Amino acid sequence: MKRSDRRIHFGGDYYPEQWPEEVWAEDTRLMKEAGVTMVTAGVFAWAQVEPRPGDFDFGWFDRVMDNLAQAGLRVCLATMTASPPPWLTRLHPEILPETEDGRRKWPGGRQHYCPSSPVYREYATRLVEQVAGRYAQHPALEVWHVGNEYGCHIRQCFCDVSAADFRRWLGERYGTVGALNEAWSTAFWSQRYDSFDEVLPPRLAPTFANPSQQLDYWRFSDDALRQCFLAETEVLRRVTPDVPVTTNLMPHHKPVDAFEWARHQDVMSLDFYQDPHDPDTHLSAAYNFDLMRSARGGQPWLLLEQAPSAVNWRPRNGPKPPGAMRLWSWQAVAQGADAIMYFQWRQSRGGAEKFHSAMLPHGGTGTRIHREVSDLGRELGSVPEIAGTRSRADAALLTDWNSWWALELDSRPSTALDQALINRAHHRALFDAGVACDVLPPSSELSGYKLVVVPNLYLLGEDDARRLAQYVEGGGQLLVSFFSGIVDGCDRVHLGGYPAPLRELLGLRVEEFWPLDEGVSVPVEGVDPGGPLGAPGTEGDLWSEAVELEGAEAVAVFRGGELAGRPAVTRHAYGAGTAWYIGTRLHRAAMRGLMDQVRQAAGVGPVLAGLPEGVQATVREDDEHRFLFLLNHGDEDAVVELPEPMRDRLGPYGTDRVTAVTLPPRGVAVMEH
Ligand code: GAL
Repeated sequence: MKRSDRRIHFGGDYYPEQWPEEVWAEDTRLMKEAGVTMVTAGVFAWAQVEPRPGDFDFGWFDRVMDNLAQAGLRVCLATMTASPPPWLTRLHPEILPETEDGRRKWPGGRQHYCPSSPVYREYATRLVEQVAGRYAQHPALEVWHVGNEYGCHIRQCFCDVSAADFRRWLGERYGTVGALNEAWSTAFWSQRYDSFDEVLPPRLAPTFANPSQQLDYWRFSDDALRQCFLAETEVLRRVTPDVPVTTNLMPHHKPVDAFEWARHQDVMSLDFYQDPHDPDTHLSAAYNFDLMRSARGGQPWLLLEQAPSAVNWRPRNGPKPPGAMRLWSWQAVAQGADAIMYFQWRQSRGGAEKFHSAMLPHGGTGTRIHREVSDLGRELGSVPEIAGTRSRADAALLTDWNSWWALELDSRPSTALDQALINRAHHRALFDAGVACDVLPPSSELSGYKLVVVPNLYLLGEDDARRLAQYVEGGGQLLVSFFSGIVDGCDRVHLGGYPAPLRELLGLRVEEFWPLDEGVSVPVEGVDPGGPLGAPGTEGDLWSEAVELEGAEAVAVFRGGELAGRPAVTRHAYGAGTAWYIGTRLHRAAMRGLMDQVRQAAGVGPVLAGLPEGVQATVREDDEHRFLFLLNHGDEDAVVELPEPMRDRLGPYGTDRVTAVTLPPRGVAVMEH
């Protein structure tokens, strides 16, 4: 985004096509009053701008753009390809996607296209040529919004078009069918292929489909979605080389490898719908916001969608209580966002999302939601210098989509392993300690970090394993959790004793996996009774395993069950650093205790010492400014002592410098050094 007009952008999805044109002037007037600076427009406009094949009607959209420009508003302009119009699927029903059991997904909702369909891509790029050409010079154009939430409804398609594309993709990946047979271990169950023509997607089979085939199908499907994105992006970069390109990703979104997609975008953007019914919603947000910021090396990102209050798509959809939307919006800014946007501006009258909250609710401007939205718009507008500032972290958490896809396949020791939950449990132990953390892929340069955390990296290549060893050798502290380093990129076990590529580094061998039944916990006891795992009642669940030490020392042992007396947590001095290992899922307090021990060994401290429980602190800075964000996620008033007198940029303390602030529940302070 352009540095010249430095500000935190504020606004939301705008669907003027749902309203008579007389309403549009009121829209822009109220947007200005609410502090809106940018809207996302055109996301679902395809059927209106191309009502018949090749017959384009942009007149009404020109007026929308001009109206916005006249009001001084910027536009995050969609490529309009997110939902094919009815004529397209009538003309070409072959673009409709199919499920793994061969059922077709029909039009009537949205996103009903097969990502591999050349027909869909052809019509989509033809439209993008029109949109890009028409609005290339428009004064309101700020950033391109390609598609919408790729993989939201159609994660994988199993139709014949996808099957042919998969065969092509495999041909490029493996070259020969012999290499494919080797990679997929097809000597098993008479699965040997004699030619690529025999290969199918992993459609519904009598029993477990080949796991390597399933893993490759995740990769292929991610790639197919990305090819749709790239086909549109190619047009945009050619027609408007200076306009940044983004697409709104979803949080914890398994079908879309955010790190891979990050390489093709100019700015990352995320849709995050906090759940007011979930007391931990800010923790899930914290993990995803860290990932967004890290995915492009700390560059500010855009929160492109959140709900002003309730959504319509959970089983129950209560509103956000007063102050929650403000707190969670500031959380995004505190963790690196340079835009706070909503779905949507004006609440729909009809359609599936009419009970989804909006910045301008059915009840109009005299509503709590509209007041809270407008107050936030003004508040964000008062601190424009935050835009462009960055943060730094001493700790990194590593995760990898390939490993995620493989970890959660069927036919493993436990189907209860959930990568997103496991990652968040590790992230939480750092978050609760007030530690800043980046979220990165294992191929990253790690030498700048003092602490690296690796939750369940089941699939791990030799190169990445070597990188971890070098990191520890050079003095790093590494914390690895169970069932990591088990298979290679084809889901084939690394031979030589689990986890073969990490054995030397961790100083141990895992002889057997002992996954635990739901609801079963095993007692764990710290070897040092005064240490963090020494507290009585410490437990692990989900998983246990028979660890044999080969140089590592036990930090804690199992105190019950079949593995009583065997190591549960270990530590191994390796080179100038230490590799720690956890062979179970520690309950929250124990995980925090262990993480504290590891990070203290690494010399990693919190952003702000002495932070009260429930308060999040982050720093964003550049050469001129240093902002300290304080957010009270707890239920009690919190007094935060500041390291030096600071100026309050939002509120109640006026312009004087203060040395402490009191935050009520859901309170926010933005302090400047
Ligand atoms: C998003 C989507 C929007 C809207 C919103 C409702 O997933 O991008 O178009 O449907 O959800 O919460």
